[in-house]
Amino acid sequence: MKLRLATLALCAVATTAATSTAFAQQGPKPEDQIRYRQSIMNVMGRQFGMLAGMAKGDVPYNKDAAVKAAGLVDTLSTLPGPLFGPGLDKGAPTKASEKVWSEPEKFKAAYEKMQAEVKKLPAAAGDLATLKAAAGEVGKTCKGCHDDYREKEFRN
Ligand code: HEC
Repeated sequence: MKLRLATLALCAVATTAATSTAFAQQGPKPEDQIRYRQSIMNVMGRQFGMLAGMAKGDVPYNKDAAVKAAGLVDTLSTLPGPLFGPGLDKGAPTKASEKVWSEPEKFKAAYEKMQAEVKKLPAAAGDLATLKAAAGEVGKTCKGCHDDYREKEFRN
């Protein structure tokens, strides 16, 4: 009897440990991760779009707004990297090409190129002439990756 109780207690401990480990490893579901990465790209796209508009003269230049948007793009650009990791190629409709997962090194290089240019944005945004130059360089890196790794249509 004593032995049985001890065994039961041990089983309970083991079950609890297994459950919590599984939970810790699971994290957010792939579909949530995919939606999260798209949300970040969307906010980054909106903020960068405003800067590109100012650079082109479509939107009146405003120093405070430009510096704020540049800081946001800089911060947001650090987030999507891990959201293109293993297992996040499907689970929700996505425009990310399967090449992201078949050429991870090249994709990473495109991502790092973007980050290197985006880092220069906050300092450049304080003046229209420097913003024009910096936004042009950033825009090339966004487009470069989208041309290679973003599909026109959503896939599952
Ligand atoms: C290293 C590659 C890469 C770089 C660099 C990159 N993107 Fe993207 N972007 C993607 C991929 C892949 C998707 C599609 C994500 C998905 O649908 O899951 C995407 C999607 C988007 C979307 C659409 C989101 C949606 O829900 O349809 C916008 C907007 C966007 N990116 C803006 C930008 C801007 C602005 C930059 C530059 C500052 C940038 N991206 C840099 C790869 C990149």
